[in-house]
Amino acid sequence: MRLKKISLFNFKNHSSTELSFSDGINCFIGINGSGKTNILDAIHYLSLTKSSLNSVDSQSIKLGESFFSIKGIINNSSEHEILCALQNKQKKVFKVDNKEYEKLSEHIGRFPVVLIAPNDNDVIRDSNEIRRKFFDSIISQLDSKYLLQLIRYNHFLKQRNALLKQFSQNKSFEQDLLTPYSLEIIELSKSISEFRKKFIEGFIPNFINHYQNLCEDREQVNIRYKSQTTTPDFDKLFHDNTEKDLITQRTNVGIHKDEYDFLINENTLKKFGSQGQQKSFLIALKLTQFDIITKAKGFKPILLLDDIFDKLDDLRIKKLIEMVANNNFGQLFITDARPERSKELLKDLKKNTQFFEVLDGKIISIK
Ligand SMILES: Nc1ncnc2c1ncn2[C@@H]1O[C@H](COP(=O)(O)OP(=O)(O)OP(=O)(O)O)[C@@H](O)[C@H]1O
Ligand SMILES: [Mg+2]
Repeated sequence: MRLKKISLFNFKNHSSTELSFSDGINCFIGINGSGKTNILDAIHYLSLTKSSLNSVDSQSIKLGESFFSIKGIINNSSEHEILCALQNKQKKVFKVDNKEYEKLSEHIGRFPVVLIAPNDNDVIRDSNEIRRKFFDSIISQLDSKYLLQLIRYNHFLKQRNALLKQFSQNKSFEQDLLTPYSLEIIELSKSISEFRKKFIEGFIPNFINHYQNLCEDREQVNIRYKSQTTTPDFDKLFHDNTEKDLITQRTNVGIHKDEYDFLINENTLKKFGSQGQQKSFLIALKLTQFDIITKAKGFKPILLLDDIFDKLDDLRIKKLIEMVANNNFGQLFITDARPERSKELLKDLKKNTQFFEVLDGKIISIK
């Protein structure tokens, strides 16, 4: 899969930026705040219909303007034009070849990207919610049935929680109103958890392999998936918690409580992993994501490496560059605030490499 061109209008600090890309490596260089990451974020939009940084779409409209648009020409066995546009206070427009989707979720997985970015450490340091989101996003790109079930689950969970709140406010309780939601949540929990279990079983060996390769076998890592659905009588557990649900005004049992433990030598990575070990863990997670998508789709996703060199020591940079040299990746987009470093690292690779110098939301040179 190749992104051939992109046009940004009023997207963050880019008023009007039009670029044609190399099939190999595209490297954005320029000082801090110049707009390098914003270009990667626009590519993220074209793949996943949303920003990787801003949860609110309107935050991506250039300050003082009323709309943004991102247009991309992408080749994925055939050529497609993807358009994402947002007019302030209106619904986001998302079209492929001039056709809108019935549901935006239908787009997810068609043009996959994998992003490795500085703020990704959240997946290790923050709550389980972030880890669930990380794996959900991968599984959703692989299987649209999973995504639909997840959307349904979140819908029923929201409704059930609203009802619990209403009961509390009105000091009332009607079992008959609650039961339909409970039954949906129970059934969807079982099914979603099966997806997750199967997925993680396939993920782990590949992940360990990447970690060992990056770190030369120094320590043991693992991922442990835990779900309440695996208790012998999950239905009973769910119903037994109704009283607690009423007191707390939210649903306490279900796959929204699933956990993914990241382990290093059998201990929690967050507490016992050094910064370097955490970084390696993260990169191994992302490289596994890349492999799994490649295998499932039969083509390589676009890889976005945001400020990655800053995060890595020499050994790990060497390993990553080896992977690039060995054609492990397809089209690559890299950002770096230190041009000399990336030029040095990429110079001997037999790859089509293009450098774009970015300043104040404009491309000032292409080499
Ligand atoms: N909606 C917006 N409107 C205008 N400018 C914006 C908007 N959102 C972000 N910016 C600006 O974009 C700039 C950040 O761009 P970006 O994150 O792409 O920089 P960068 O080149 O990746 O920098 P660094 O090297 O520090 O990572 C900031 O100056 C920020 O103020
Ligand atoms: Mg940046």
